[in-house]
Amino acid sequence: MTEPIETRLTDEVVASFDKTPDPRLKFLLTELVRSLHDYVRRTDPTFEEWNHAIDFLTRTGQTCTPTRQEFILLSDVLGVSMLVDAVNHREREGATETTVLGPFYVGEHKPLPNGSDISQGVKGEPLFVSCSVTDLSGQPVQGARIDVWHADDEGFYDSQKPDYTTHGPTLRARFASDAEGGFFFRSILPCSYPIPTDGPVGALIRASGRHPMRPAHVHFLVDAAGFDPLITHVFIGGDGYLRSDVVFGVKHELISTVERRTAPVLPDGTPISGPWHHMRYGFRLRPGTRVAPRPIMAAAE
Ligand code: BEZ
Ligand code: FE
Repeated sequence: MTEPIETRLTDEVVASFDKTPDPRLKFLLTELVRSLHDYVRRTDPTFEEWNHAIDFLTRTGQTCTPTRQEFILLSDVLGVSMLVDAVNHREREGATETTVLGPFYVGEHKPLPNGSDISQGVKGEPLFVSCSVTDLSGQPVQGARIDVWHADDEGFYDSQKPDYTTHGPTLRARFASDAEGGFFFRSILPCSYPIPTDGPVGALIRASGRHPMRPAHVHFLVDAAGFDPLITHVFIGGDGYLRSDVVFGVKHELISTVERRTAPVLPDGTPISGPWHHMRYGFRLRPGTRVAPRPIMAAAE
């Protein structure tokens, strides 16, 4: 008796990749086929459901533009981005926890001197950020390049705004760590914000009754010669969405107690009137040779 097609087909498709010259590509493709076939056997999709899935993926691709990556967003809300991150950081050895890069990293930010104000006039409550970069034994790392970026107090990144290409970057910059491993800058306090919900990923979130919110955070990409690049965020303690981040990116160690202060001078001696907030964080880098990611959109340009 011949084997039923349901089981025979998987082996046939896997065998069709037998001559793939690159062994890693062969492994990735055949495991993908096995997982997809298992999914179909477990879920019995109707033709209508399968067409809907194809249409959803088609619209996800069509929603991508030079400044918007809907597929990354899909990977994020399905927890796949955090899972890929986890399997790539199984051995952390005390280095700072990592989290998703997110779709708003636009690559190599403009270098600014320590102490600069990256708000460029964007309104909001003043924030002073003081950080250090060390190795795993606590020794300062001088000359690390640190890209920082965050949302404004209405929940938008500069790259989401129509005037981004003419107005230039705001709330993002690159700093370098000094001889003590320190770097510091001024900005405004970001707020929690929804991921973009006007595309297919937003429809998926609504259809499943989930909220679209990310807790307030500042992104950091810390890169130094001889160390693996660190992609992380620092979250603002007390945010109501810390336990239900739509992209599953929160790790306890990354939550910082951001203190409200009224002193008339900032830690770097700059006078200030009115209350301000102080975020402090110490980043620990792990030795390694990995290279910092380039944003997918920038790579395609
Ligand atoms: C972000 O934090 O920028 C982000 C991460 C994942 C999805 C959407 C936004
Ligand atoms: Fe973000």
